[in-house]
Amino acid sequence: MNNFIFYNPVKIVFGKETILELKNLLPQNSKILLVYGGGSIKKNGVYNQVLQGLEGFNYIEFSGIEANPEYETCMKAVEIGRKESITFILGVGGGSVVDAVKFIAAAIPCSTQDPWKTIVRDKIVEKAIPFGAVLTLPATGSEMNNSSVISNRNLEEKFAFASDLVYPVFSILDPETTYSLPEKQVANGIVDSFVHVLEQYLTSNIDTPIQDRWAESILLTLIDLGKSIIDDKTDYNKRANLMWASTSALNGYIGVGVVQDWATHQIGHEITACYGLDHARSLAIVLPGLLSIQRKQKKEKLIQYANRVWGVTMGDPNVIIDEVITRTTLFFQSLGISGRFVDYGINPEEAAEKIGNIFISRDSLLGENRDISGEVVKKILLNRQCLY
Ligand code: NZQ
Ligand code: ZN
Repeated sequence: MNNFIFYNPVKIVFGKETILELKNLLPQNSKILLVYGGGSIKKNGVYNQVLQGLEGFNYIEFSGIEANPEYETCMKAVEIGRKESITFILGVGGGSVVDAVKFIAAAIPCSTQDPWKTIVRDKIVEKAIPFGAVLTLPATGSEMNNSSVISNRNLEEKFAFASDLVYPVFSILDPETTYSLPEKQVANGIVDSFVHVLEQYLTSNIDTPIQDRWAESILLTLIDLGKSIIDDKTDYNKRANLMWASTSALNGYIGVGVVQDWATHQIGHEITACYGLDHARSLAIVLPGLLSIQRKQKKEKLIQYANRVWGVTMGDPNVIIDEVITRTTLFFQSLGISGRFVDYGINPEEAAEKIGNIFISRDSLLGENRDISGEVVKKILLNRQCLY
């Protein structure tokens, strides 16, 4: 196992009717900026619950954070935050809102003229306004981690930054808030969480049985929930288990002391930046080809994944690996998520060329062994595009 330091200060408040806890969680005498997205919270009753929790507090609102939050939109909130001398931010929504709040919290006190360069590109966070979250979409783990992903449409860029200064002070996770999610977003959440686990699990075997079995328990839970959680819109236990699985997939626990990959995410972010695809769908396109091309480096863990998660034990290692990549792809498909560019109206050859060239121009090497060059990215994106 590798050396590690583990730190996670986020207070999780989980369960039914927990939004009212806001009145005990928000700091007294603060000036609060309430941040949310395109209005789903007004349709499903979450907004009213939040307003009840905010009774007696001094707050102003900022809405309109879009999926894959935009730098320009976030900067409008930063302007308001500075003008109004905001001292606390409350984000209500999915990963995009929570990520936007992390950026806004860091950008308000940012001393440079260009927060995109300082925070997102150079990944320097000097200070941050404290903030909390009410999560309405289980997927990203942003509610309990220190990462944020911001997009810049003008530059066709989408980058992550991380800092211990942008852990939420608290996150409220009420599974009932997810009843109103469109099927597509529940499916996205399952696939995103699944790939978060695989990015931390399908790497080199360095003898980390605790982390491995935690990872496998999340994968198995997500597979068990599968399509039924999409159909059973108001099954509380299923929604609660998905919510906790998603948080657990990316709150740091399964990632301590292990080798991590994240190439699927980095390539996926470029697909979203160029073609606007949902985050989870970009991952479903990249992952099968990546596992296939990197099968030699990931062999031991791929076989373990096949045995323990899918019960595939028989056959030559290459046959087992092909089988388990196929099962993973079919699992995503069973949720309605395709791994083929053509199903999103995108030409695979053009996309592979465009995305690969981005990594070539940046001279980037991805993956746990830093052996995925832009040329390899092109191969990954064309691999397994004709199957299924
Ligand atoms: O904007 P509103 O109206 O709220 O609608 C949202 C949005 O249109 C809607 N929604 C959310 N909760 C709902 C709901 N609709 C009905 N009922 C509810 N309860 O769902 C749509 C998608 O929301 P979004 O927040 O964009 O989805 P998600 O949580 O999947 O977040 C995706 C973003 O997170 C980033 C992604 O790159 C992407 O930008 N990620 C962040 C990570 C992190 N911070 O650690 C890691 C991830 O790998 C990921 O990269
Ligand atoms: Zn993700």
